[in-house]
Amino acid sequence: MKIFVSDTPSEASKLAAAEFKALIRLKSDAVLGLATGGTPLLLYRELIEACGRKEISFKKIRTFNLDEYVGLSASNPRSFRSFMDENLFNHIDIERENIRVPNGISPDFSATCAEYEAAIKKAGGIDLQLLGIGSDGHIGFNEPMSAFSSRTRIETLTPKTIADNAKFFDGNPEFVPTRAITMGIATIMDSRSIALLAFGESKADIVARMVCGDIDESVPASVLRRHSDVMVFLDTAAASKLPSSILIRA
Ligand code: GLP
Repeated sequence: MKIFVSDTPSEASKLAAAEFKALIRLKSDAVLGLATGGTPLLLYRELIEACGRKEISFKKIRTFNLDEYVGLSASNPRSFRSFMDENLFNHIDIERENIRVPNGISPDFSATCAEYEAAIKKAGGIDLQLLGIGSDGHIGFNEPMSAFSSRTRIETLTPKTIADNAKFFDGNPEFVPTRAITMGIATIMDSRSIALLAFGESKADIVARMVCGDIDESVPASVLRRHSDVMVFLDTAAASKLPSSILIRA
């Protein structure tokens, strides 16, 4: 795990965006794993701008999002699919058929989950997976005690995650769906490389547990230390509880 620390979220996002741009230039049909939440927004802006300047093209890029709320259709303005359209897909030259976000309103979730796994495999696997981290250590929507062997499935959200995500639902936790369809931890770990972003003081404790605590299911993100190619991009605040000797100042 390489841990890069920048002064600000903007600088950290630029650094992470450079990894995505380099991959896209090297492999024009790369498979990207994408994430929602507040954290990746600046990174997405960097990619949109680079695409606008024609430095990169998403023409042949394929994407798989980590998760979607159960009960929200793609057209629901609060769905992760809408979030991705608004914050990335509508502003780049990606082909719509190359975008995959789990279906939150499937009539048969077990088939949908199996089909999502199969689609990732058929695409050749994920080259670079973007991750944020929940304040309880979740990645995707894999909440604490999710099995490290888990695959795409339905997960019940914890009260903490529901409270954290209320910011996207007019601040009202009662509007937040209680279940989500998420790539599993093993699905995420199959990615060839992973970039995790975390910003702000509110993430400092969980980042320290991810990096320095035990590797176990109580902090799902701790599993990333078993992956051979993980880059962590932090701002100073999120890195504030880590020993400085393990940080790469960027
Ligand atoms: C959400 C998403 C995660 C995301 C996390 C952090 O629930 N499912 O993929 O990393 O919460 O969100 P934020 O970036 O807003 O802190």
